Amino acid sequence: MRVGVVGATGKTGRYLVTRLCGDGHAVVALSRSLDRLASVDACAKRRQADVVVPSSIGQALADCEVVVSLAHARLTAPLLAALPERCRWVVLTGSVRRSTALPDAAADAVRRGEAAFREWIAAGGRGVMLHPSMIYGAPDDRNVGRLLRFIRGWPRALPLLVPLPGGGRHTVQPVYFEDFVAALAKAVRQPNGLPLDLEIVGPEAMQYRDLVRASAAALGRGVTIVPVPLWLLGAAARIAGALGVRVPFTAAELRRGTEDKRFAVEPMRTLLGVTPRSFDAGVREKVARGWF
Ligand SMILES: NC(=O)c1ccc[n+]([C@@H]2O[C@H](COP(=O)([O-])OP(=O)(O)OC[C@H]3O[C@@H](n4cnc5c(N)ncnc54)[C@H](OP(=O)(O)O)[C@@H]3O)[C@@H](O)[C@H]2O)c1
Repeated sequence: MRVGVVGATGKTGRYLVTRLCGDGHAVVALSRSLDRLASVDACAKRRQADVVVPSSIGQALADCEVVVSLAHARLTAPLLAALPERCRWVVLTGSVRRSTALPDAAADAVRRGEAAFREWIAAGGRGVMLHPSMIYGAPDDRNVGRLLRFIRGWPRALPLLVPLPGGGRHTVQPVYFEDFVAALAKAVRQPNGLPLDLEIVGPEAMQYRDLVRASAAALGRGVTIVPVPLWLLGAAARIAGALGVRVPFTAAELRRGTEDKRFAVEPMRTLLGVTPRSFDAGVREKVARGWF
């Protein structure tokens, strides 16, 4: 099967290309930049295309029966409109951020992408939209990677203190990038009984404090969590940002961190056959690879 990958140069896309070639597919890797395509596995054909230039997408994907997109969900409508006749199955990426109750322009963009996908399905298209939670583990991941670098940079002679809003009792359900890649690769095969959308998440919701503790433990460090009011931490992050001082999380990210995230993992296990690894296992793997 010839599979086109939009977003092939990204943190997840590069690994998906290698995985799809390993699964025996003929892979076409797309990017807006030929330079960035140099970082993609040579097993794939490389083509330049931009989702917002429909003719470039139509040409680059002309011989693909299946298209996977890792580009942001805000690009869903133009991508679907530009797909060639030959394409009979798409795997799109959204985000669990669509579920937030906070005012969030990025979440609104995901919801608009989802609506465009549903309209396209109603008009006879076939495909699935996968909604990952926080993806971590790739060499350049900005989530757990930032935290690990912060911990590594903390002097060993000093006790490691990490301030968290409310003591970090809210929950998050991060998914290891290779588990997301495995889910995408399974979805490419069009398994029977797939719903229109599916959440791709870690095995269980965990408190932020446990995420920090597991990250420190993976680096052989103990940590003391210091509960701090959100307003104070947000103000400190804003001031640090204005002064150009690096902090692991921005004020907006801290605010999003006060919302509990908890998703069902069973549908992904049963419908795609992917059992995600624990955060402890994933963060240790990332540290062992030196990817932070
Ligand atoms: N990272 C997370 O924690 C997280 C959480 C939930 C959902 N997601 C979603 O999961 C997906 C993959 O995440 P990621 O972190 O691996 O993404 P990423 O590293 O940001 O990669 C995004 C890719 O999209 C491509 N792209 C952007 N604009 C494009 C355009 N106009 N035309 C063609 N390609 C375009 C980029 O390719 P070029 O620049 O080479 O063209 C890049 O390879 C994204 O949709 C993201 O929104 C991510």
